[in-house]
Amino acid sequence: MSTYLFQLSDLHIREPGRKAYGRLDTAPYLSSAIDTILRCPQAPSAVVITGDLCDFGRESEYLHLRDLLTPLVCPIFLMPGNHDCIINLRRSFPDHSYLGFSGPAHFSVDLGDLQLIALDSTLAGQSFGAIDAHGLAWLEESLLACVDRPVVIAMHHPPFLTQIGHMDEIGLLHGRAEFAQIIRKFSNIERIICGHLHRAIDTRFAGTIASTSPSPAHQVVLDLHPLAVSQWNLEPGGFRIHAWNKSAGLVTHTMPIGTFEGPYPFHAEGALID
Ligand SMILES: [Fe+2]
Ligand SMILES: [Fe+2]
Repeated sequence: MSTYLFQLSDLHIREPGRKAYGRLDTAPYLSSAIDTILRCPQAPSAVVITGDLCDFGRESEYLHLRDLLTPLVCPIFLMPGNHDCIINLRRSFPDHSYLGFSGPAHFSVDLGDLQLIALDSTLAGQSFGAIDAHGLAWLEESLLACVDRPVVIAMHHPPFLTQIGHMDEIGLLHGRAEFAQIIRKFSNIERIICGHLHRAIDTRFAGTIASTSPSPAHQVVLDLHPLAVSQWNLEPGGFRIHAWNKSAGLVTHTMPIGTFEGPYPFHAEGALID
């Protein structure tokens, strides 16, 4: 039995026809991502979207997002990022009861073989992330409730430094050490999956692996100079597939979005002819 958790992140959807940063219509990029998901040989068991769902957190943007997500028929789990407004998100997706009704949108859901624990790292009005004492206590309690099964923790702000200086300045600035302390106590945390960075990044963190996902639309320019300017570009977008089965464990793949030439068989007639 396999579980395929697809991770999208940082959609930054605006109202129909309106552009992010005055330049970028993000909606067609999400539609292309969904087309690519629907063409994958393995259908998602669930899709988690790790924040920055919309660009300004307006209800009109969330209604547009609702429309754009319609072709996905599997369970979808939405998480707020620093560009979101949890009040408008809850109001626009009343059927997503896991988001709760007040306070931070932490949730823990059973995906069959995997437990997905989503930790809300946002702080209203701030770009940086924070986890307060209440969030840390909730996390520990949630982890204690599923010590016998593999866990994926999802959060918008990565709990590690990425070496992209301007993004690290708006990373998880509060509660990082305390968060790491809790993570270290549990050996069944397979992955900590994050957004915010608009790039695929992986690192070792507190005895597990932490990662970020590309955006379907714009990527953060890869420049590791500490004083690098904060810029985006249109490198190919992507998403991540966290694939679980008992014998392989959790394996993460990165999928570029779009249609590409091929596939061609490796062993076709004439393939060995020079
Ligand atoms: Fe973002
Ligand atoms: Fe963000």
